[in-house]
Amino acid sequence: MDLSSRPPSPARPAEFSGSPAAGTRWWRDAVIYQVYVRSFADADGDGVGDLAGIRSRLPYLAALGVDALWITPFYESPMVDGGYDVTDYRSVDPTFGTLADAVELIEEAHRLGLRVIVDIVPNHTSDQHVWFQEALAAGVSGPARERYVFRPGRGASGELPPNDWESVFGGPAWTRLPDGQWYLHLFAPQQPDLNWEHPDVRAEFDDVLRFWLDLGADGFRIDVAHGMVKAAGLPDVGDAPQSRLLGRGKVPYFDQDGVHDIHRGWRRLLALGPGERIGVAEAWAPSLDRLANYVRPDELHQVFNFDYMRTDWDAAELRSVIEKSLASTGPVGAPTTWVLSNHDVQRHVTRYGGDELGRRRARAAALLTLALPGSAYVYQGEELGLPEVLDIPAELLTDPQLESLKGGRDGCRVPLPWSGNEPPFGFGSGGGWLPSPPEWKSLTVEAQWDDEASTLTLYRRALRIRRDHSALGDGELHWLDGPPDCLVFERSGHSDGPRMLCAVNTGDRSVQIPARGSLLLSSEPIRMEGPNAVLPPDTAAWWSTEPSEEPDTGG
Ligand code: GLC
Repeated sequence: MDLSSRPPSPARPAEFSGSPAAGTRWWRDAVIYQVYVRSFADADGDGVGDLAGIRSRLPYLAALGVDALWITPFYESPMVDGGYDVTDYRSVDPTFGTLADAVELIEEAHRLGLRVIVDIVPNHTSDQHVWFQEALAAGVSGPARERYVFRPGRGASGELPPNDWESVFGGPAWTRLPDGQWYLHLFAPQQPDLNWEHPDVRAEFDDVLRFWLDLGADGFRIDVAHGMVKAAGLPDVGDAPQSRLLGRGKVPYFDQDGVHDIHRGWRRLLALGPGERIGVAEAWAPSLDRLANYVRPDELHQVFNFDYMRTDWDAAELRSVIEKSLASTGPVGAPTTWVLSNHDVQRHVTRYGGDELGRRRARAAALLTLALPGSAYVYQGEELGLPEVLDIPAELLTDPQLESLKGGRDGCRVPLPWSGNEPPFGFGSGGGWLPSPPEWKSLTVEAQWDDEASTLTLYRRALRIRRDHSALGDGELHWLDGPPDCLVFERSGHSDGPRMLCAVNTGDRSVQIPARGSLLLSSEPIRMEGPNAVLPPDTAAWWSTEPSEEPDTGG
């Protein structure tokens, strides 16, 4: 089977044909597929994924039925942090291809009806960026240092860092130069933080955004969108354990009110069009309400919902986070996003228990996620049910977060298995930059494509139904009563059309759900018992219902 030549099957929205028209609000319920470029597909055989590889697999993404792809950074970079350490925001790293490859990729995606979101990294540059090199050369009082956050140290001879901030990757957030000054890096020492009070920095990023918009990008995923502005005076955090505050508590280096000015400026830039280009915030804030600030009407379009991603496989906890998520984004008029995995966290098959249990729960979670109102993200390989790889030999691990995060993030970044019986399973002719587990033979795209029972088939069907069924995507959600350990809800679109019933059993016992309408899809086989559907443990199902049918699922 040659998947690269498979024609895209789903019909695309009429308004999108490479020149997006205004007013479609496509992003309100788009399914966006995350491509981790190093690990997606390798066209030139060097063991590392590249833009030409992505391009060759676009027909797969179109046939899968997603609306857009978000590609992690592919700019020139020393790759200390997988490309999130950029030296030139207007170039493509030779490992990943050329600027011409980027343009061809965007154009080809548009021809197939797929939008392309690129990743922008504004909180920090690489230490090899020309600005940082100039700053180093400028000496202690050189103006080039003002584009970053340089400070004298504390202590009798400045031997102590300027404050107590810790890097997200562990250790102090400051590094001292031989000339005595310290510079701030909230991530690796090779990722110095920019000073967003400096006009050069603001002007530069406006220009970088325009550059990619001119090349046809449909939007930006904004890395560390909560980090660019720091509290005035850079105050100490104090005694609190900072690693535990991240994403949950207040720290003077994240989620400061001043970041919103930057996002407002970018929204104005995105609004210049043509078409609807979007900004997606990778932001962490102490509460969902503070997170919703990033998607106020004059700010970005979406923010990742990491609270949902971090929730255990438990009906009550899931219901609570779903309710809170909808309640926080609803008032600002933004769509809620639903994320199960990404390149920074352990894959959810493994988080949910691993092996068959984890995969079974992940399949049910997919149907839950794709039934919720708003936009959904699919991290490459989740449609194949890939688990985290937990036994990568230590000498092959590359992640700078290795010290602070046990095992690091490499285990979710193993090259995607496409076809064949031997590693790297069609990823590329030159092996893969991380080894693929031999047992992934049964998880390749090729092995799953025509298998009725595969996770890939489940995703394809779910995505097709989601596109065709008017009650899915944007719209309302109504909870219905259900048995313990179950989520039962009904979706209605904005019209009087059919509704959709979703039931999810997160418990370890079968439950009975009064069935209504016609079964659309289930994550495991389900059977009827009289008027009831029997939902096995860790199973989700979708039914299409008519508005007249009574919502009666009491159990
Ligand atoms: C974001 C990225 C992560 C990266 C970090 C620093 O959290 O998702 O991969 O390491 O920012 O840029």
